[in-house]
Amino acid sequence: MSDGDGELEARLVEQEEFEPSDEFVEQANVSDPDIYEEFEENWPQCWERAAEMLDWYDDYDTVLDDSEGPFYEWFQGGTLNASYNCVDRHVEDGNGDRTAINWEGEHGDTRTYTYEDLQREVNEFAAALRELGVEEDDVVTLYMPMVPELPIAMLACARIGAPHSVVFAGFSADALATRMNSADSRFLVTCDGYYRRGDALDHMEKANEGLEGVDHGVDATVVVDRLGEDGFDHDLKGNQHDWGELIDDHSGDTVDPVERDAEDMLFLMYTSGTTGEPKGVKHTTAGYLAYTAWTSHSVLDLKPEDTYWCSADIGWITGHSYIVYGPLALGTTTVMYEGTPDFPERDRLWEMVEEYSVDVFYTAPTAIRAFMKWGSQFPDDHDLSSLRLLGTVGEPINPRAWKWYYQHIGDEECPIVDTWWQTETGGMMVTTLPGIGTMKPGSAGPPLPGIDARIVDTEGEQVEAGRAGYITVNKPWPGMLRTLYDNDDRFLSEYWQEYSDPDADEWVYFPEDGAKIDEDGYITILGRVDDVLNVSGHRLGTMEIESAIVGVEGVAEAAVVGGDHEVKGEAVYAYVILEDGYEESEEMREKIIEGVEDAIGPIARPEQVVFTPELPKTRSGKIMRRLLEEIANEEEIGDTTTLRNPEIVKDIQTKVSQD
Ligand code: PRX
Repeated sequence: MSDGDGELEARLVEQEEFEPSDEFVEQANVSDPDIYEEFEENWPQCWERAAEMLDWYDDYDTVLDDSEGPFYEWFQGGTLNASYNCVDRHVEDGNGDRTAINWEGEHGDTRTYTYEDLQREVNEFAAALRELGVEEDDVVTLYMPMVPELPIAMLACARIGAPHSVVFAGFSADALATRMNSADSRFLVTCDGYYRRGDALDHMEKANEGLEGVDHGVDATVVVDRLGEDGFDHDLKGNQHDWGELIDDHSGDTVDPVERDAEDMLFLMYTSGTTGEPKGVKHTTAGYLAYTAWTSHSVLDLKPEDTYWCSADIGWITGHSYIVYGPLALGTTTVMYEGTPDFPERDRLWEMVEEYSVDVFYTAPTAIRAFMKWGSQFPDDHDLSSLRLLGTVGEPINPRAWKWYYQHIGDEECPIVDTWWQTETGGMMVTTLPGIGTMKPGSAGPPLPGIDARIVDTEGEQVEAGRAGYITVNKPWPGMLRTLYDNDDRFLSEYWQEYSDPDADEWVYFPEDGAKIDEDGYITILGRVDDVLNVSGHRLGTMEIESAIVGVEGVAEAAVVGGDHEVKGEAVYAYVILEDGYEESEEMREKIIEGVEDAIGPIARPEQVVFTPELPKTRSGKIMRRLLEEIANEEEIGDTTTLRNPEIVKDIQTKVSQD
């Protein structure tokens, strides 16, 4: 079965609404529908419910300070430490021997950290960071794959009040340097390598190359030895230190968690925007942690005794919020996996669900589409009965994929939460609550209690049910970004310009997604409305890719758009004009692909590079991207009358269909 079509039972194909079972509802953390009203009537005090999930040194004075909107402050006056909340308090509560992290390497090697183990290693690494000169508020860059040392380093940073900036390991050396430069980060924690589909990858080479591009002094680099004997030949030089040796040197050391103000920065996370420069999204300690703990409790229904697995990479916000901070704040067991879902076989994830008796599983639609394509025999071969709840995130899920997930992974027993949110929102914003809501495949659901999300037209007026518009968030929430690092102006112009009325002190957050709403208030997300692509659930800026292509010798101009892709959702289509004297060739195509991989990483690799003598442009000289998208998708071409060069469209179409 190639597309999974025949694997969906006819009965399910027709069904549009699904209810959680009584059994699920009875045990759910949140099952009283009055919660929506309660939060609305009691806003913003309702958010105390989230703050109460944390342990504080000093209690906060105010829930929300909105005097300087949209620079909102939450839980002002309070002090706390995220590492204490995610680690120590569970040990103090007598749960030190509960598993915090169940890690599995691609080759099947495993490591288990109890909360006590985690506490020990977080302390030792925090002591090492201090000794290396890391002070409170220094940004520490973590360029690491999925090894347990990554969450340990995050928590060690949090312990000493040093914000971390995790750079996804799949990003290139250039991307690392850009992010370290932008954050003025003088410390790097990285790794010698990791395994992908059986091969050992040399990560250190990229890290070293990236360090060369850092335009300020780097005080220290720490390197985790993941590959052991499979490792590549890189001697540690100068200020480079081996993680294992540092831990040995600090064996048994403890570091008191630093009391951080509620609004102190917990971390930076770079994400793609409309322009070429990635945006440093700033999250703070109390609001973010309270929000991820609360949504892990209410949406993921996590209990301390659960084993929970989010198959994302910690290098993205999903991993920050729902592998590390949310689940660990609740004292849950979180699973981490190093490799790909199809190694050594396509049942790897289901084998792990069975082995660890995973209760709650959270993944992305792109993965579900791949599972469907591979066929249901892979999950069918395993006992997945431990699962209680399923979740998805990152892109729209079509009803067919939703139902396949429901039937083949959840055995029609597990509710599914389709959670819409963003790097900037810190945590989930629109989704059903699994113990309350009717599920409608394809629609994320209503905004969470306390979240004022609306679907509006270009004027900001709410649209009628069924009509497409844009999603906005009209009230602040604790997990929201506070600003873009060192760039308040860009923060204002990126998110608050479109719909706010500063004179009236009315601030409306614009996430740049299209959406529609139905008569029950259920929101269906239609996708980005800016120049950002969503490739396999990863957010990539077209401008970033274009500037990488234009950086290749011989390229005069480039336009990048997203084309539909069965598994990835969207794929990168690059239309390229060469300079005079350069010819279209396989070599040139490879150079372009290499240029993108070097500037960003393999995830941004163009699916197709189409050489063309011209790009379709309007009379004012703007590239008509809509047409390029239609061409990529081999759709019928819309109106071309406003083009100054309409004849080029046919030529490009012919090329795309030949490739
Ligand atoms: O377009 C939306 C899409 O992913 C974007 C955010 O990307 P990022 O900041 O990388 O965070 C991804 C993980 C939270 C959004 O603007 N998106 C995210 N979740 C969904 C979604 N689109 C539809 N349905 C979702 N559940």
